[in-house]
Amino acid sequence: MHTIFVRHHNNIVIELRRMPENLRWDGEKLYQEARAIIASQLQHIVFNEYLPVLLGKTEVQKRGLKPLQSGRFQGYDVSVDASLTNEFSTAAFCVGHSMVQSKLPRLNEKFDAIDQISLHTTFLKASQFYKEGIVDELVRGMAQQAGKIVGPSVTAELPLQPEESAVWPGLGQY
Ligand code: HEM
Repeated sequence: MHTIFVRHHNNIVIELRRMPENLRWDGEKLYQEARAIIASQLQHIVFNEYLPVLLGKTEVQKRGLKPLQSGRFQGYDVSVDASLTNEFSTAAFCVGHSMVQSKLPRLNEKFDAIDQISLHTTFLKASQFYKEGIVDELVRGMAQQAGKIVGPSVTAELPLQPEESAVWPGLGQY
């Protein structure tokens, strides 16, 4: 997912640079503007697509989480402390991680199965993603694969326990 958003960021920079009104923008300005666009798109995906599936449309509506169809949100309050509580992040941690699948399917351009990669083999081995076409194959796989149902179990492919971080240095240690 990071690779997709990095690529998307770079495409936005290319588009912004092409616009005549932005000719004076330097690299930093282009980077920051593209970053702001990506952040809002990401938030839109979370609030408009992910949360209704996770919580249900009714709950999203009831809690005022549904994005406006037009106009601007008027409820922004600078005095609200937006930092997360430890309790919230711990609960979100359990929900999110229980959804993680153990295998990453690879699909070819016709969406036929190539194979499946075990999740743990991907950690700290970014070099395998330089292989021509592999990101596209994985993206197709992710687009077709449903998440695991939210629950109390987390796949053993996800090394989140301290004793497992000995095998995956750095993971689960901060
Ligand atoms: C392959 C998938 C994933 C991997 C490898 C992964 C890995 C990690 C790691 C290593 C941590 C830090 C653990 C620690 O503090 O010791 C973490 C934290 C967290 N993850 Fe994930 N994660 C994955 C997917 C997800 C998903 C899908 C969600 C939610 C939808 C999620 C939500 C969180 C949250 C809320 C935290 C706690 C952040 C905090 O410290 O406040 N993760 N994850």
